[in-house]
Amino acid sequence: MFTPLTGYLTSVGASVPLVLQRSALVLQRPARCCTSGALAPAVAAVVGCLLMNDIALPQREVPDSLMLYGFWYRALPGKQVGGRRLQKTMLLETPLAIGRDAQGRAFALHDACPHRGMPLSHGVFDGQQVECSYHGWKFDGQTGQCKLIPSLTADQKLKIDRIYAGSYPCEEHDDFIWVFVPQPPPAGAGFTKATDAPMPAPRVPTFSEKYKLAYLTADLPCSVDHGIIGLMDPAHGPFVHQAWWWRSRDSIHEKQKNFEPIPNGFRMSAHTPSSNSAPYKLLRLYADAESITTTIDFVLPNLRLETIRAGKYWFSSLTTVTPITRSHCRIDVVAAWNIFRWLPLGPQLLKFVFAKFVEQDRQTMEQQSEGLKYNPHLMLIDDADRPAKWYFGLKAAHLEAKRTGGEMKHPLPGPVTLKWRS
Ligand code: FES
Ligand SMILES: [Fe+2]
Repeated sequence: MFTPLTGYLTSVGASVPLVLQRSALVLQRPARCCTSGALAPAVAAVVGCLLMNDIALPQREVPDSLMLYGFWYRALPGKQVGGRRLQKTMLLETPLAIGRDAQGRAFALHDACPHRGMPLSHGVFDGQQVECSYHGWKFDGQTGQCKLIPSLTADQKLKIDRIYAGSYPCEEHDDFIWVFVPQPPPAGAGFTKATDAPMPAPRVPTFSEKYKLAYLTADLPCSVDHGIIGLMDPAHGPFVHQAWWWRSRDSIHEKQKNFEPIPNGFRMSAHTPSSNSAPYKLLRLYADAESITTTIDFVLPNLRLETIRAGKYWFSSLTTVTPITRSHCRIDVVAAWNIFRWLPLGPQLLKFVFAKFVEQDRQTMEQQSEGLKYNPHLMLIDDADRPAKWYFGLKAAHLEAKRTGGEMKHPLPGPVTLKWRS
């Protein structure tokens, strides 16, 4: 799908597990496989899908669209949240009310009152507490703890401080509010005090004190899996991302890229970017650098990091594809750079380029979704779709490790070289 300046996260694969090594892997249907929220059936489904597809070639399907809990996700651009209004949003089919307290700190509450489910986003917020619009219960914005139940009389001793509206760890940086989405409580169970996230939210890498930052966001009418495998698909570039200032369809040529495993993901090792795109030629001239190198990482659940270094100049981006529901996701690209900082229209120019790419991808996914409605038979082929196979492998390995409490078995045992034409 989207790759600002380089190609796509493409690549390799030395020794992937047996089930992923075949030349074509057919994606399995979600409804049949993986709609259950329970972890064990879900893992079995993912693994089962991979196996089944591998053995019996034409199979019908669609990726599993399983959503991974226990990670940070981008919720909203920070500037959409402020004042006395709670902003409604959704992550992983979890409704959220996002607000900002009087000190400017963002918070995220489950958007359903623990009394009778009224969305708290309909309530009144005073900069500290949210008052539910139905019976006036009040909750602390940051902790979700209940502070007042107006209907209680003086002699009724309900311990209201034990009542919580669901509250999620929240961080804000790089112009976005991030929310940590834990495994949901069992159906029907109430919320208790929220625990801290086990790790900080991801950030866009930066390499100098001064830099510019810009972001773009687009809704995609597809499951998170199609959004993500689109991100790491090199083969659509020449067909979807043509532009006179970028590359022509005729510039397609054979490429070879090295990949290596990294924790929870894989890396397209540092390489000199493809010579068939004009911006790179320009960058080489401008930076007057001996070498330009690009590194692209994919890390679960949904992060694509790209870093380009050319002497003292750099460009980096952190792209995420966030599951909103099983059938919808959103792509957010945040880029930082110190290249062309002197150019007055630099950010606008970059935004223009990004917007063009993202829009091309969005349109493609919209058209693809028409075809997916009828549950067609799908394939992943070597080597261009190998990263997509790794993505499914990583997801299955992560879920399996969570289920067993053991170490995650990485689908890439070591460095691999992949070849394709793009
Ligand atoms: S539903 Fe919120 S106070 Fe009753
Ligand atoms: Fe794309």
